[in-house]
Amino acid sequence: MPHWSTLIRDIPDFPKPGVTFRDITPLLADADGLKDCIDALAEPWRGVALDAVLGIESRGFILGAALARVLGTGFVPLRKPGKLPGPTVSQAYALEYGEDRLEMHVDAVAPGARVLIVDDVLATGGTLAAALELARRQGARVVGASLLLEVPGLGGRDRWDPDLPIDVATARR
Ligand code: PRP
Ligand code: MG
Repeated sequence: MPHWSTLIRDIPDFPKPGVTFRDITPLLADADGLKDCIDALAEPWRGVALDAVLGIESRGFILGAALARVLGTGFVPLRKPGKLPGPTVSQAYALEYGEDRLEMHVDAVAPGARVLIVDDVLATGGTLAAALELARRQGARVVGASLLLEVPGLGGRDRWDPDLPIDVATARR
């Protein structure tokens, strides 16, 4: 495990009893940790043709914008409902109770654009699957997903396209 992964802390029973929250704020606050984790996220994609990083609100914004800067691409936010001012395309996904949606501006990516989807955690995979669906509905060519960590045993990968790579940076080295 990379040295910076120790800066991700587990908070038990947040936001509700029985759930362990993976808190990346100590990692973000650490200068070396932040630099090295962004470099680690970038590593598999260096030399891969990419037009944009798609970051999932909200923690995927922080990582995704920094990653886009390192990879030399643009950044596109995939937002929670009602936040984007222009015409949007919207994709619902299931939560444990109820559902949520991600939205993207309809003109955010050009047809055929090569995009990388970024978030912090893969848990049930609903969020990431919705991002994939949204990007594809807009004609983007998704090259893969980049995450900091994966919660095992929740079937997250089963909801992703098996033909596309998912890189989990804490799982390397
Ligand atoms: C968390 C996490 C991922 C998502 C993973 O975000 O940051 O985006 O859940 O869960 P899943 O694989 O089961 O879909 P959350 O929706 O809590 O919002 P936040 O990033 O704004 O904190
Ligand atoms: Mg999130």
